[in-house]
Amino acid sequence: DGFPAEKLFDQGYSYTYDDVIFLPHYIDFPTDAVNLSTKLSRNVPLSIPWVSSPMDTVTESHMASAMAALGGIGIIHSNVTPSEQADMIRSVKSRRVPILSSPVFKAPDSRIVDEFDSNDVPFVLVTQSGTQGDEVAGIYCEGKGTVGSDGRWMVGAAIGTRESDKERLEQLVKAGVDVIVLDSSQGNSVYQVEMIKYVKRTYPELDVIGGNVVTMSQAQNLIKAGVDGLRVGMGSGSICTTQEVCAVGRGQATAVYKVSSIAAQSGIPVIADGGISFSGHIVKALVLGASTVMMGSFLAGSTEAPGAYDYDEKKKCRVKKYRGMGSLEAMAKGSDQRYLGDTAKLKIAQGVVGAVADKGSVLKLVPYTMQAVKQGFQDLGASSLQSAHDLLRSKTLRLEVYGHQLPKLRVEFTDWLHMRRKPF
Ligand code: XMP
Repeated sequence: DGFPAEKLFDQGYSYTYDDVIFLPHYIDFPTDAVNLSTKLSRNVPLSIPWVSSPMDTVTESHMASAMAALGGIGIIHSNVTPSEQADMIRSVKSRRVPILSSPVFKAPDSRIVDEFDSNDVPFVLVTQSGTQGDEVAGIYCEGKGTVGSDGRWMVGAAIGTRESDKERLEQLVKAGVDVIVLDSSQGNSVYQVEMIKYVKRTYPELDVIGGNVVTMSQAQNLIKAGVDGLRVGMGSGSICTTQEVCAVGRGQATAVYKVSSIAAQSGIPVIADGGISFSGHIVKALVLGASTVMMGSFLAGSTEAPGAYDYDEKKKCRVKKYRGMGSLEAMAKGSDQRYLGDTAKLKIAQGVVGAVADKGSVLKLVPYTMQAVKQGFQDLGASSLQSAHDLLRSKTLRLEVYGHQLPKLRVEFTDWLHMRRKPF
């Protein structure tokens, strides 16, 4: 039945997540036995494979703290001045990590309002009388949040590859950043190779993630330069128009499979970036070889995403703005180097501006989605990322291709209208 991945992805077709489907395998464990702990990069372990994208409508300090509290991580965008970006890192680092050094315990029938009023107790544990404090603290802290060696939430930040980014990096390092993402839509460049070497030479303790890449040879080049992690995806994001505008990119399922297979040989974790709109896409990305998934639209519109809600009269719901970092609107604020790599005068949009519906808090959305991902893993008989990858490479796991294409989620093309109004 079906095809092993090796055969399917070797036929010259570029597959998106929606093009492929896994055939179910054999279940011999409960859903809760699925362990999705993973690595973002060589030295950054996570308890869930979840990363929020460095976009100015997705990840600032509020989102990054929530991601870390959930066991994932957020990457702060760089569409602000270096000192503003460093302030966001500091803000994440200043948030209280609920590792309970001296927890306050109260019985269910006690009055707890006074505790919050009198001093800066962030929470009170309400327990049935007789429960041991250590036991509760152990349950509460077990394998959850992403905490660094400084005892604070871990947080990443994006930078570019210009000379001025070295100064930005210095400020981020001083603020305590834990991992750096070199943010480029085409990462296989002389600029990025030099920046990787500079970061590793100057801050040997700091993990640096390169990308974006979609081919094995691109990946190999960055691995050779010394990256600790790779970000995969070109034109697969919901707000992306790179494939339409520049005619380059790759189907995301193929890109994740190909890059992961080469990165695994060097022990480099892969981030599957973009194109995730359902929990099933997460299952596909992880099983095809990624160690984590990075999301923009999935997290935009949540309480923790930057920006205020608007009311959408047509859809009759609250919405928040979500825009591509290559949209004219975002580039006007400074993100153009992700898409240009140089100082070209004419800005070509490779992304759009839109809005996404209110999703409530990621503190609820993420655990719900992770449970769905665990069920997918269970159906495949994979109790961890490693076992999924083993099943894939041993050809036990089988796939098939759909004969039809599901439409890609498209948001409003307002940038394009803007271009038409103001011809260059
Ligand atoms: P999702 O599908 O999660 O995608 O919304 C988020 C990812 O898309 C990339 N990105 C862009 N790609 N033009 C592009 O071609 C853009 O304007 C743009 N902005 C973001 C980025 O990799 C992000 O993580």
